[in-house]
Amino acid sequence: MQNPQDQLNVAILGATGRVGQELIAVLEARKFPVGKFYPLASARSANQTVRFLNKDYPVTEPSEEIFKDVDVVLASAGASVSKHWVDKIVECGAVIIDNSSAFRMDPAVPLVVPEVNGHALKGHNGIIANPNCSTSQLVVVLKILHELAGLKRVIVSTYQSVSGAGKEAMEELEDQSKALLNGAEVKTAVMPRQIAFNLIPQIDVFLEDGYTKEEAKVIEETRKILELPELKVTCTAVRVPVLIGHSEAVTCDLERPVSPAQVRESLSDSPIIEIWDQPEEGRYPTPIDCAGQDPVYVGRIRKDSSSENGINLWVVADNLRIGAALNAVRIAEYLLEHDLIEAKSKSTKDGIPLST
Ligand SMILES: NC(=O)c1ccc[n+]([C@@H]2O[C@H](COP(=O)([O-])OP(=O)(O)OC[C@H]3O[C@@H](n4cnc5c(N)ncnc54)[C@H](OP(=O)(O)O)[C@@H]3O)[C@@H](O)[C@H]2O)c1
Repeated sequence: MQNPQDQLNVAILGATGRVGQELIAVLEARKFPVGKFYPLASARSANQTVRFLNKDYPVTEPSEEIFKDVDVVLASAGASVSKHWVDKIVECGAVIIDNSSAFRMDPAVPLVVPEVNGHALKGHNGIIANPNCSTSQLVVVLKILHELAGLKRVIVSTYQSVSGAGKEAMEELEDQSKALLNGAEVKTAVMPRQIAFNLIPQIDVFLEDGYTKEEAKVIEETRKILELPELKVTCTAVRVPVLIGHSEAVTCDLERPVSPAQVRESLSDSPIIEIWDQPEEGRYPTPIDCAGQDPVYVGRIRKDSSSENGINLWVVADNLRIGAALNAVRIAEYLLEHDLIEAKSKSTKDGIPLST
């Protein structure tokens, strides 16, 4: 049994959503030292309960009273909800690890994948941003390539699953697929077009320069996390009829020549990357292989025959895990391991927890 003073009181803001449910699974699987647990969602979920470590917890709406008793808020209720509550959360002395895009590009807010730039968490001001799901899996690979041979330019095309757009988008893919197979009318409400048996080259809104906001996020967040503000990156983001797992075709122009074998060796040194690259045996990662798994999977590593020092790769990961919940919990673990967060119970005068 853990000492209550070594535990953190945790709130999940958005506990009934796809990322929220994954956060619960990851906290359980990694045995994160949770003291009190608060599942929070909107008034729509008022009568629901959420199961955590074999106990049912009532879902409640967020409140100042709750945040006063919380050490860390894992937020996955969207940008507007995070923006609404952030000041209150910080005032109450809790740290918010936010999955939305609300604070990612704020220079005062660290945007972190711990294995890539965990050092950026030092001196945080109570707000920490979790990157976009496509960015997280990409930077894990790019960081290693940069150290190996220097990144000059990155071209990424994403094939993003519908879970990246939340639980309603997953239901829409399932409903549309059933309707099509049964000859019934196909209804589209969440996605901009029919997603079943189709793909959509639009994720989020279009910007003035013709990129989508999702593509702009991948470009800007990659530069911020890698601390390479001038890095040439371009992206085309596509929604595909897959439930879980984002795939990326990545081409990197490098400063120095490097062989596919060297790339394979360097990537395989990472504890969070798995190489599946025996194409002659049909071994390469697909989203179905990666759903529910923690690693970033890399395959199809080959020389780009159109460029002098170019390498092509295929990168697949569970967008709800490394792209959201797992990365958020790893950030919380990093904060604990490096004494960058302290349980409120620990800072009481006599060291006795405020409540049990
Ligand atoms: N899915 C991914 O791969 C992924 C990856 C990275 C980041 N993100 C980000 O994570 C966030 C959530 O994504 P998701 O896929 O989990 O969405 P989701 O399945 O639609 O879940 C949204 C959650 O937010 C809650 N919520 C909505 N309005 C609220 C309010 N006013 N107050 C409190 N709670 C509220 C919902 O509660 P109710 O059930 O009561 O409506 C639900 O729990 C988004 O910002 C998304 O961009 C998602």
